[in-house]
Amino acid sequence: MCGIIGYTGPLEAKRILLEGLSGLEYRGYDSAGIAFFDTDSQIRLVRQVGKVEALKEACGRIAADSHCGIGHTRWATHGGVTAENAHPHQAGRVTLIHNGIIENYHQLTEEYHLAEKLCSQTDSEVAAWVLDALYEGDPLDAVRQLTKKLEGTYGFCILFADRPGEIYAVRRISPLVASYTHSGALIASDLTALLPYTQKYFVVPEQSIVRLTPYKVQAYDQETFEKLQPEIMRVNWNMDAAMKNGFPHFMLKEIHEQPEAMKNTVLPRLSKGLPDFSDDRIPDALFAECSQIHVIACGTAMHAGMVAKSIMEPLLRIPVTVTIASEFRYQQPLIDSSTLAIVISQSGETIDTLAAMELAEDLGAKTLSIVNVKGSTIARESQYVLYTHAGPEIAVASTKAYTVQLAALYMIACRMALVRGIYSREEAAAFFGEFLDVIPAMEAMLQKQEEMKAVVSHLIQSPDAFFIGRGLDYAFSLEGALKLKEISYIHAEAYAAGELKHGTIALISENVPVIAIATQDRIFSKAMSNVREVKARGAFVILLTREGAPVDKSLADVHITIPPVRDIFTVFPIAVALQLIAYYASVGKNLDVDQPRNLAKSVTVE
Ligand code: AGP
Repeated sequence: MCGIIGYTGPLEAKRILLEGLSGLEYRGYDSAGIAFFDTDSQIRLVRQVGKVEALKEACGRIAADSHCGIGHTRWATHGGVTAENAHPHQAGRVTLIHNGIIENYHQLTEEYHLAEKLCSQTDSEVAAWVLDALYEGDPLDAVRQLTKKLEGTYGFCILFADRPGEIYAVRRISPLVASYTHSGALIASDLTALLPYTQKYFVVPEQSIVRLTPYKVQAYDQETFEKLQPEIMRVNWNMDAAMKNGFPHFMLKEIHEQPEAMKNTVLPRLSKGLPDFSDDRIPDALFAECSQIHVIACGTAMHAGMVAKSIMEPLLRIPVTVTIASEFRYQQPLIDSSTLAIVISQSGETIDTLAAMELAEDLGAKTLSIVNVKGSTIARESQYVLYTHAGPEIAVASTKAYTVQLAALYMIACRMALVRGIYSREEAAAFFGEFLDVIPAMEAMLQKQEEMKAVVSHLIQSPDAFFIGRGLDYAFSLEGALKLKEISYIHAEAYAAGELKHGTIALISENVPVIAIATQDRIFSKAMSNVREVKARGAFVILLTREGAPVDKSLADVHITIPPVRDIFTVFPIAVALQLIAYYASVGKNLDVDQPRNLAKSVTVE
């Protein structure tokens, strides 16, 4: 969850660290800090509650020049949001920053008699004191010993007081990427901090320790200290892709990037009118031989799985189970060697999803991950990976990652229908051809942006909002509710429209906003009956249908239409509409759209 950066080299370190932290802020932003070797080779520490801007102001008052340091933005797990709990933590000769959770920090506090020494409530400071106790002048040996003491997850960057200019790093589960560039040596919790300096990087291997010096980055085997040569990877983004490019918020930019993201994800896999995964090295056998599909994910990614279930089960006639990753791990799931586990994650670092995938593999499932960040842990550890090509998604609220995840799932559904003999080549090509119509439909919804903006004035007056839909519309409404609540703080819930009258309709009273989605022909009249029920109780109804739907105008206070794509594809234009509604609700309430309270972009703690 936290943002980590380290730099050592010929340039001024403070500036690089602070700019890097700004780019990492979406990973966690309740406090921030840097530590650096001053010109007298003493380690200086600056920590601030609040965002990186506050840290920049504090650092602006320090004249010290530096060429080596580490920086951290925090998403609190242990201990409140205070300067004492902010990283870096200093313990004797050790100064470190940490991303992850040390599960045995209480036991270590006892074992090393640290209670009187601790200045914070964090597990990270305990790790720093333990490392200081183990340090006898050889950083590699001390770090190796530390890893044997710790239980839990970590990504550490470490300074030793008597090793000016050097940074040491080690990880278990939590992400770290590093690079040696013409600007010096860099390490970070994700690529956005390296982008201004390089597009080449390597993932810090687990079971390794990395030493960064001003002119080299070297990984060593954690046990033998043998030099390692990790695979050098090349990121396919540039700095522009990670900047706002004139949009007021990353989220709006990313909403508008969706048609391009869809093209980049789908078109390279279009061969003779059919989805083709041969370049992804995903064999047809994976789709032909499975007897059930189990989708494992969290949040928005899980909602993509819910849509997949709604289209795959009717088409493929095999069970498609969608399970929240944090639940899957403790459910004794019914998984065997004939299960295809589809693991969905934008960041590829969500620890619940990673752990659930490992359990699915242990139970014999084949694992196919759908991931946006190249080289991320889930992508590397799944047996097969289908990368989406949405580019960096910086806003905490996921938008373009959701629609390209859906695109990947629709392509998989189409390929599976073909290889399982459910579709002929002609039928599969027809399905895929109609699917491609969603891209112009999304572009059309972006042109109606002002219509969505007009909706929110009523919405933001209410503390609550309800999303209702049936079938596929219900699956979309889950994501619509999450988008609205996570960035506008309106208590939004999604309900199967037919379920409302079994209790929840008691909450519908005068002017309560209800966003009703009715795009499925077969159940349209049923859906409209439910709209009638909430309207009769005074709800303010925002109705979304396809153009030309036979709507009784008296039922809708606002009626938003989407282009008449086939009803199994309506999720794509609907998603754009619901994302824009959530976006403008957050803007209308003057909230921090890109970095909503309490959240972080990648949840790397359980
Ligand atoms: C979505 O808007 C949220 N930011 C969150 O639910 C997110 O989708 C979830 O944490 C999963 O993240 P992942 O896709 O990177 O695994």
